Amino acid sequence: MDSKEFRQAGYRLIDWVADYLDHAERHRVLPQVQPGEIGARIPAAAPDKGQDMAGILDDFERDILPGVTHWNHPRFFAYFPANNSGPSILGELLSAGLGVNAMLWQTSPAATELEQKMMVWLAGLIGLPAGFHGVIQDTASTATLCALLCAREKATGYAFNARGPEAVDPDRPLRIYCSTEAHSSVIKGARIAGFGDRNIVTVAVDSDRTMDPADLQARIEADRKAGCIPCCIVATVGTTSTTAIDPLAKIGPIARREDLWLHVDAALAGSAAILPKKRWILDGIEHADSLVFNPHKWLFVNFDCSAFYVRDPGHLERVMAIDPAYLQTDRDDQVTNYRDWGIQLGRRFRALKLWFVMRSFGADRLRAMLAAHIALAAEFKGWVEADPDWELLAPVPLNTVCFRHHPAGFDGGDEELNRLNKALMDRVNAAGRIYLTHTVLDGRFTLRMSIGQTGTKRRHVEEAWRELRTTAAGDPGA
Ligand SMILES: Cc1ncc(COP(=O)(O)O)c(C=O)c1O
Repeated sequence: MDSKEFRQAGYRLIDWVADYLDHAERHRVLPQVQPGEIGARIPAAAPDKGQDMAGILDDFERDILPGVTHWNHPRFFAYFPANNSGPSILGELLSAGLGVNAMLWQTSPAATELEQKMMVWLAGLIGLPAGFHGVIQDTASTATLCALLCAREKATGYAFNARGPEAVDPDRPLRIYCSTEAHSSVIKGARIAGFGDRNIVTVAVDSDRTMDPADLQARIEADRKAGCIPCCIVATVGTTSTTAIDPLAKIGPIARREDLWLHVDAALAGSAAILPKKRWILDGIEHADSLVFNPHKWLFVNFDCSAFYVRDPGHLERVMAIDPAYLQTDRDDQVTNYRDWGIQLGRRFRALKLWFVMRSFGADRLRAMLAAHIALAAEFKGWVEADPDWELLAPVPLNTVCFRHHPAGFDGGDEELNRLNKALMDRVNAAGRIYLTHTVLDGRFTLRMSIGQTGTKRRHVEEAWRELRTTAAGDPGA
């Protein structure tokens, strides 16, 4: 591809993306394809001869686009937002154009120093107290794994890294504490870090689904009596199912008193701390050893971009750093080499898109956008509560509403309601105008409205509510 063809295809693609974002609503949110259907359209092997870009883009529209789920559709209410924005896409493009590998300071000084500054900017936006040091990771799952590895090494005096699993006496296993509502990445991280599923202690939650500090304390004490070694608490600020906010101000002192690593998983909700009214969600964060939140979920930075903060980067480096001759540089004692702050060596230049987003939006606009999402969720909650045929199933501290269809006078039990709500969700999603997903709360099949896409306005939320009600009313099975 010469630069002329690159420009032509590039202009066409920028136009395509701009039109796409302007008119995402033209698409069904969830594609209507069967497993294998898209794969069958793609040849079994790579072509021997190069093909022209115009044809490739045509094929994208014909063969790939029909199988795309439109995460940036304004009526995407499933899972969690993965919101996007023009400045972020341009930052990503520039990063791809530069093709930088930010593994060492020397492999692109600007990438490291911009990343350091962006982590300071973000920390300022969410009101993080002084003393935290940030690094961009690909995902919250990776950041949580890093935190668990740090906790493991702290608890074993770096012996696990040196000696492997035999550093831990099988009769005195290391224990991790998280609530029953913690994300699956905690379990996956604990497996990879060698703790073992049976050493993940699930702490009870209160009626609002936040971690019960008294139960946490009791479980730590019971473990100590049994000879186990309490190692790490993972608190969740914004649980995946309901965005419940674990009380850091109560959990933190337990972690300090018991000398445990406290990792805070604020993957979705952390972004909300940019709002002065929501800053309380991080009350007690001063007790944490590490924190992760995802600008790629709810801060208009496209996937992927997770902000990982640690209190003691020296400890992180001691756990992660391996120093082969081929990676050493003359400046190693003067600079930060982010290769030592995470799992992979090669690192993308993600700070560019963060820089673009924070400068282009400005903090005021970012705050206004998040506040609008939260206000829409509060409004939707009000509609559910006011309608006798619907039932709210969890508190709504942020952008996610958990609810179900429960027709007035319906005298079947939960099992029947579960069937009814699953059928309703399937029908609504199959119609393609909105997309929402579910969770299960105390055995109850629960619909979730997660409001946070960049283009989502009040009318989209109204449309979703109308769609849900008319589908429920029109279909005796739903
Ligand atoms: C609370 C919580 N933690 C972690 C994750 C995983 O995030 P990531 O995809 O960045 O690993 C999620 C995603 O849903 C989440 O809700």
